Amino acid sequence: MIRIESDLDAMAIRRVHELAFGGYEEADLVDRLRAAGLALASLVAEEGDGIVGHVLFSALDAPLPTAALAPLAVIPAWQRRGLGGSLVVAGLESCRERGVQLVTVVGEPQYYSRFGFSSELGTRISSPFSLLGKVWMGMELLPGALGDGSVRVDYPSAWGPLL
Ligand SMILES: CC(C)(COP(=O)(O)OP(=O)(O)OC[C@H]1O[C@@H](n2cnc3c(N)ncnc32)[C@H](O)[C@@H]1OP(=O)(O)O)[C@@H](O)C(=O)NCCC(=O)NCCS
Repeated sequence: MIRIESDLDAMAIRRVHELAFGGYEEADLVDRLRAAGLALASLVAEEGDGIVGHVLFSALDAPLPTAALAPLAVIPAWQRRGLGGSLVVAGLESCRERGVQLVTVVGEPQYYSRFGFSSELGTRISSPFSLLGKVWMGMELLPGALGDGSVRVDYPSAWGPLL
């Protein structure tokens, strides 16, 4: 089941990221973005005994309504069952409903292209991550949102050490 994060989920969400990434960086990022009031869509995947996956979409500073997808994690024992994909699809839908026009992500093009993210679009979005090459991707939730042009997106200071 995919549902919106509740007030009681914060510790379980930390655990998901710690198990999936093998460190604290992503769990800390979720806590900072939530505390800064930047979360636009924070969704969990729940199975039987608890939360096994989480995705966060948070607001960026940009000339059009823009969200960053990060982080996304499913605990190892529950990977490759479609939960990661379901979290992304549900999060994109939630962002669309909230009027988000552009979403960015840093990740594997092979994985994220299936949802509509594109490294080519990423070349028209400038940010501290655009130097990373093909792993920097964008997706227009409003088709044609970027027109023929390019855009600068800024990551709020809550991203801290990752910038
Ligand atoms: C990435 C992640 C969230 C995917 O979750 P999931 O529930 O396994 O995803 P799904 O079941 O929806 O999709 C599985 C597919 O994604 C592919 N996939 C998973 N991680 C991938 C990666 N890093 N690069 C390319 N493909 C990847 C799998 O090969 C599988 O493909 P297949 O269905 O063609 O065999 C999960 O593997 C994870 O938490 N990884 C560790 C944390 C991480 O790297 N997060 C992403 C940061 S950008």
